[in-house]
Amino acid sequence: MRVLVTGGAGYIGSHTTLALLQAGHEVLVVDDLSNASEESLRRVAALAGRTPAFIQANVRDEAALDAAFEGFTPDAVIHFAGWKAVGESTQIPLTYYRENLGSTFTLLEAMAKHDCHRIVFSSSATVYGEMSEPPFTEDAPTGATNPYGRTKHMIEQILADAVAADPGLAVGVLRYFNPIGAHSSGRIGEDPKGIPNNLLPFVAQVAAGRRDKLMVFGDDYPTPDGTGTRDYIHVVDLATGHLAALDKLADRSGYHVWNLGTGRPTSVLEIVGAFEKASGITVPYEIAPRRAGDVASSYAHPGKANAELGWSATHTIDEMCADTFRWQSANPNGYADA
Ligand code: UFG
Repeated sequence: MRVLVTGGAGYIGSHTTLALLQAGHEVLVVDDLSNASEESLRRVAALAGRTPAFIQANVRDEAALDAAFEGFTPDAVIHFAGWKAVGESTQIPLTYYRENLGSTFTLLEAMAKHDCHRIVFSSSATVYGEMSEPPFTEDAPTGATNPYGRTKHMIEQILADAVAADPGLAVGVLRYFNPIGAHSSGRIGEDPKGIPNNLLPFVAQVAAGRRDKLMVFGDDYPTPDGTGTRDYIHVVDLATGHLAALDKLADRSGYHVWNLGTGRPTSVLEIVGAFEKASGITVPYEIAPRRAGDVASSYAHPGKANAELGWSATHTIDEMCADTFRWQSANPNGYADA
């Protein structure tokens, strides 16, 4: 299959591009490298023994996208490209709406123009918010509490409307829980710019000596140890979930939503313990106030993806931490070390 991957040089995009190449698919990555490095694609090529095609462009660039579709004639699209920091989205909301919604419009219009009818979209478990209790099934109520989350929620609705108008369209919305880990080679992984917002990159940088200590945001949540619990999923499991969704959409048009998670909640302190075990390094931490906007607990009911996609997450928390540590140790400054 010929797959156009937007945001394919980023963290989840690069792992999925590798999995696509390894499964024998042809890949064209469209990425503006605003939050990614071309080095990730060079390493993907080395690991796969095959080079993905690459166009450096913003997905909102109609002319560039038109040329990409014209030259590559994709059978399907995976749409990762987007701005993704919750805190930042409250500071520059218009940028988030312009980039995340705008790129989706350009992409859907290019697909219609070039006769491409299959798309898998990167959504987020953030759409479940606090309206119901986990484990979340796909029919739990949805909404969002910040501009980033609202862009994901709005794009889901836009995709559903597009399917209603064109029943030949096949749309797979994948709601990711918390992706962590790295490819087991230690060659590709998460490379956040600046101070990491997310738990695992921060823990890894503390272990590497780049930061003094972890601030644990709240220890008075109604969870077994009082710290927040999340459904951490290995990024390689997430990548294979995209391949399973693409396959499913080959014989099933319409609008489909699947959770990609393990179904198991893990607390912040359990992550710290697992990372210490994997690395042999003590991770100093301090209990700090709750972070605004955080929920106590979020985890998936993964049954629909298990049954319909024949997919399930297989990696353990220990493996996720060991792979994060291997990537961080081999690349203390991410791709900037290359
Ligand atoms: N945490 C800390 N200290 C830190 C960072 C995080 O204690 O320095 C805690 C948080 O309070 C939370 C847990 O670690 O309990 C996980 O936090 P992350 O920031 O890693 O992940 P979130 O669950 O807050 O958010 C992530 C993505 C969002 C996405 C959401 C979906 O960053 O983009 O999952 O549920 F929307």
